[in-house]
Amino acid sequence: MQDVTDLPFWKLVAGYGGADLYFTEYFRVHPDSILDPDILKSITANPTGRPAIAQLIGNHIPSLIRSARELQQHPVAAIDLNLGCPVPVVYRKNAGGGLLRDVAQIDSILGALRDAIDTKFTVKTRIGFEDPDVFEELLTVYARHSLDLLTVHGRTVAERYRSTVHYDYIARAVEVMPCPVLANGNVVSAVKAQYVLDQTRARGLMIGRGMIRNPWLFEQIRQHRRGEAPFLPCGRDVLAYVYALYEMRAKPEFRESSHVQQMKKYLNYIGLGVEPSGRFLHEIRRVNTQTDFFRLCHEFLDHSEPMPLEPFDIPLKETDFMCGTHS
Ligand SMILES: Cc1cc2nc3c(=O)[nH]c(=O)nc-3n(C[C@H](O)[C@H](O)[C@H](O)COP(=O)(O)O)c2cc1C
Repeated sequence: MQDVTDLPFWKLVAGYGGADLYFTEYFRVHPDSILDPDILKSITANPTGRPAIAQLIGNHIPSLIRSARELQQHPVAAIDLNLGCPVPVVYRKNAGGGLLRDVAQIDSILGALRDAIDTKFTVKTRIGFEDPDVFEELLTVYARHSLDLLTVHGRTVAERYRSTVHYDYIARAVEVMPCPVLANGNVVSAVKAQYVLDQTRARGLMIGRGMIRNPWLFEQIRQHRRGEAPFLPCGRDVLAYVYALYEMRAKPEFRESSHVQQMKKYLNYIGLGVEPSGRFLHEIRRVNTQTDFFRLCHEFLDHSEPMPLEPFDIPLKETDFMCGTHS
């Protein structure tokens, strides 16, 4: 996830059990692009002990081929193409989710990349731009290009992050694709993970926001699948996680207020699981000093009660992308 799940975050999450496989933030690709050195470092100095897939975003075929070939010189498990990003500056340039409006162009890009890539080649897609009716056509194109893995975020680009997730479309992808499919969207707990696997029959799950709120989630899913009771963090475990994030984000050049601002990227997600009224989330978004930040965190998290396994249904604005409906 852009600006969130970078190398230091991977390292932190791996310490909590971690994922089986990691996707990098996307490398922006255009005729003048070079591989972003910070993202590249998460591949060359991957601290997780697990494979890393390098994700590209762009639509200029020669540049995509050039970047993929450069990335292949590094220890990548696969090259992934992003066909899902809903950020307007991205999709308006016909990159990420914007490409879902032009199936013929996707066909050309996938054909060229498949020919140029010697390692595994994977795609992350949404189910359409505005209308999911295009998904069948997209699947026909994806199936034609011998992908090694397809990840499906079960929303259209227009649905961004907050709608219900259309797991039935992911199930359809599992049915027709010759390669393994990962299901993505609102996997917020071990119980939900099992529900999504049952509903879709997907080979695995990609998890984003749920893991930022709850870094124990990967391990809880493994425990649940083995029939064991999942580890239940208490308030102080989450408080320790917040301190670890704070330390992780420290940079010598940061002023205190910038450091606190950086933390809000993570607290936006964590705040959904702290208490149900939304007061913590409201107040943490307004602090500017380290003292106020930790005073608030201690007020709500310095306790030994178990934390909820699912986020609370806190009313959010349409523009908030922290969590969708849990269904
Ligand atoms: C802040 C943010 C940054 C994201 N960056 C990326 C990205 O770089 N590449 C990508 O494939 N998806 C990205 N996503 C989308 C997530 O990977 C995921 O598809 C989406 O959040 C739904 O899954 P979730 O409910 O588990 O979070 C991003 C999402 C958010 C909220």
